[in-house]
Amino acid sequence: MSFPQRRLRRLRSSKHLRRLLAETTLTVNDLIMPLFIVEGKNVRDEIPAMPGQYHYSIDMLEDIITELLQAGIKAVLIFGASSHKDSHGSTAWSSEGITQLAVKKIRKIAPELIIITDTCLCAYTDHGHCGIIKDNRIHNDDSLEPLCKTALSQAAAGADFIAPSDMMDGRVAAMRQRLDNAGFDECGIIAYSTKFASSFYGPFREAADSSPQFGDRRSYQMQPGNSREAILESLLDEAEGADMLMVKPALAYLDIISAIRARTLLPLLCYNVSGEYSMVKAAAQQDWIDEKAVVLETLLGMKRAGADIIITYHALDAARWLRDASH
Ligand code: PBG
Repeated sequence: MSFPQRRLRRLRSSKHLRRLLAETTLTVNDLIMPLFIVEGKNVRDEIPAMPGQYHYSIDMLEDIITELLQAGIKAVLIFGASSHKDSHGSTAWSSEGITQLAVKKIRKIAPELIIITDTCLCAYTDHGHCGIIKDNRIHNDDSLEPLCKTALSQAAAGADFIAPSDMMDGRVAAMRQRLDNAGFDECGIIAYSTKFASSFYGPFREAADSSPQFGDRRSYQMQPGNSREAILESLLDEAEGADMLMVKPALAYLDIISAIRARTLLPLLCYNVSGEYSMVKAAAQQDWIDEKAVVLETLLGMKRAGADIIITYHALDAARWLRDASH
């Protein structure tokens, strides 16, 4: 049947009808808010390349956590930025490390909030790489031990989920075993399972002070053109025991989100990364785009591609916009 019998516009004729027929919806329950925590006191400094995002010292967390709760946000992702760096990233697994202390503080402020910690070494190594260097290479197997120690210390601090973002082979299995052996069987693993070597991480690396001091991350993060390998990366992390999978970045990789969605039964996240955020903010500051409309359309597109959950710096704004729009 085709025109004039078939008229698709009939189904678009009113707001109520469009809502009834919405195939994809975006709600506050789909959003995770990342937070950058720094050492020191009384710090709430805006991150220059990420307008609207801040560096918080631990004593300044209460207000933002309260705002997130009031907006209905259910989960945060914690990044500690440390000035204490060495070749092995040893402050990453200190029980008094910035991430560990932040987890304890947030747990006190908001007992029910889901706390996820980024589990990586790059903000704690003096060379800025996500693993250990041996013979001028990022050594895979030698990196597993410090990463496992970091995971364990974050679980001990009270993280609900650890989120390994290093892209070493075998790290999910290694972490799962270490957590279980230490009695942290309830701490879950959200694997950055398909993470690309992307230029969209630039503002984040400034914010987390985690830029590689030589070379790049292409020997461990994935090359952008490979979709079969992208699927394999996530399926391997599933087999190793990850509870949830992730595609990162999101916008330039919507096809990868769909492809992985079709092949796993696990929850799938995508990470709407710093560069994606900063581009929208920059255009909005110039009044070249309608920020609210563009953000909500972008996040909806990620859901339509197959993401169940979106990690996004827009989370707090989006949660408020969605609440206002629901009436
Ligand atoms: C740490 C890590 C990075 C991001 C999340 N965890 C940076 C990187 O891999 O270089 C990027 C997040 C963003 O850009 O918003 N390995």
